[in-house]
Formats: sequence, structure tokens, C-alpha cells
Amino acid sequence: MSTADAGAPGRKTVRTFQDMKARGERIAALTAYDVTFARMVEQAGVDLVLVGDSLGQVVLGYDSTVPVTLDDMIHHGRAVRRGAPNSFLVIDMPFLTYQVTPEEALRNCGRVLQETGADAVKLEGGGPPVLDAIRKVVAAGIPVMGHLGLTPQSVAALGGYRVQGREPAAAQRILAQADDLEGAGCFALVLELVPAPLAGQVTEAVGIPTIGIGAGVGCDGQVLVTYDALGLNPGFRPRFLRTFADLATEADRGIRSYIEAVRSGEYPDADHSFEADS
Ligand code: KIV
Repeated sequence: MSTADAGAPGRKTVRTFQDMKARGERIAALTAYDVTFARMVEQAGVDLVLVGDSLGQVVLGYDSTVPVTLDDMIHHGRAVRRGAPNSFLVIDMPFLTYQVTPEEALRNCGRVLQETGADAVKLEGGGPPVLDAIRKVVAAGIPVMGHLGLTPQSVAALGGYRVQGREPAAAQRILAQADDLEGAGCFALVLELVPAPLAGQVTEAVGIPTIGIGAGVGCDGQVLVTYDALGLNPGFRPRFLRTFADLATEADRGIRSYIEAVRSGEYPDADHSFEADS
């Protein structure tokens, strides 16, 4: 069952993003996996909230997105919708929930929309099985965001987390797949880890907004994993990442200060205790 009304008043829609591209207004997207971060990103006014399957690494401790299940995405998606009831919410479809048959893809994407209250789903890749799935899902009225370049669910086949599309043939393939995804009905497209000039070319070539991550300034928008952007993952320092806060240091300071206060008996003090009759 949905935890929020689809199309709540004031919430952005797929048309908002297309209009933003037409006006040259850049789209700021961030991930969220729980209610607390969902509240923060909505309150700050982000344009689009993504429940990425990066939750596999960021909050579940896996070393890739591959083990993430449909139930994981629904569980976290529901929490994010409760925290961000007015945001345009996209949920990643995890590995093997959309590649087997278009019918299975439709059933799984439908579950995600019905059970989380999300506005759209995101599917990785641009080959024939994914295109067939996207056509079926879009025909049923479910907005789909595409994802090209480094597609983390295929990291083993791609030979690791590497920039994609550097060679001319690979660049041509990404351009052709972007065109195919637009033709299949995607309303927007994530471009991950591709050279900036190629991302700019794709952005020029398609009518749908492109959202980059590690794809330079030529995209219509940008997405980052919020934990990375806020410095909560200090060991992760790819070239494309700028950290906009240092929450890991601040959290470490706070936790150590708490431990010290408890051990010394300085906390809890009278100000943080209850009287018998007050
Ligand atoms: O899973 C994720 O967080 C993503 C973004 C990085 C685009 O797919």
C-alpha cells in the first residue's frame, strides 16, 4: 500500500524536469535511504530524491549493489516517502528485477510504485532486454529514468568502477543507447562516469534531461550519493566527488564527547534528569 498520495499538490512531475531542461535550469538530485535524510533533503529543496540501490554499500554494508533485493528497495523507499512526502521520488530497480522478462519488470516496477508511493523507477542499461522492459513499463503508465555509462549492477562485466565511453566505439554506443532510451519513453537519463565531452554530446542529442554523476558540467543536472556529498564516507574520494560538509569528523567529535561525558559522570546531570513531581 502506498504511504503517500501520488501527485501530491506542489510535487514536481516528469514534465517539470522536461520544462527545466527547456529553460536551461539545472536539476539538483540527491539520494536518501531513510526518513531522516529524506526530511533533510526535502527541507533543503532538492529537485529529485533517489532511493539508489547504492544503499547496498552505503547502509547495508555490501561491496556492490548486486545483493540488493526488491524488498530492500521497497522497505527503504517507504521510509523515504514518509520523510519526503512532497518530493519527486525515484526508486532504483535492483539487479534481476527487470532483465528477465518485460512482464516480470512490469510487475516489479508496479509493486514499487504501489507499495512505496514513488513517482518513478530507474533501470540500468540500454541493451535490448532493458529496452523491452522499459517499453512495457512506460506503456503501463510508470515513469522510467534510464541509466547509462557505468552501470553498477554490471560492474563485474565492465571490469570494475571505470570511466565508460572513452574509446570512440564505446562513446558511439552510449550515444545510440541514449537515443534508444528516449525512444523507449524514458523521461530522464542518468549518465554515470563518462567523459564530460561525451555527456555534453548526449545532453545535446536527446530531448530528455540528463543527470550526471562523474559526467562533468554539460548535463542538465547532477546527482550525488548524499553520504558522499556530506563527507560521511571519508575513504571514498573519486575525482568527481566534491564534499559539501565534513559530517564524519563532526560525528566522531560528538560520539567521543558523549563517551567521555558518560564515563566521567558529567552526563546526565541535573538539567537532563526528571524530578519526582515535576
Ligand atoms: O544507486 C545510486 O545511488 C545511483 C546514483 C549514483 C545515480 O544509481
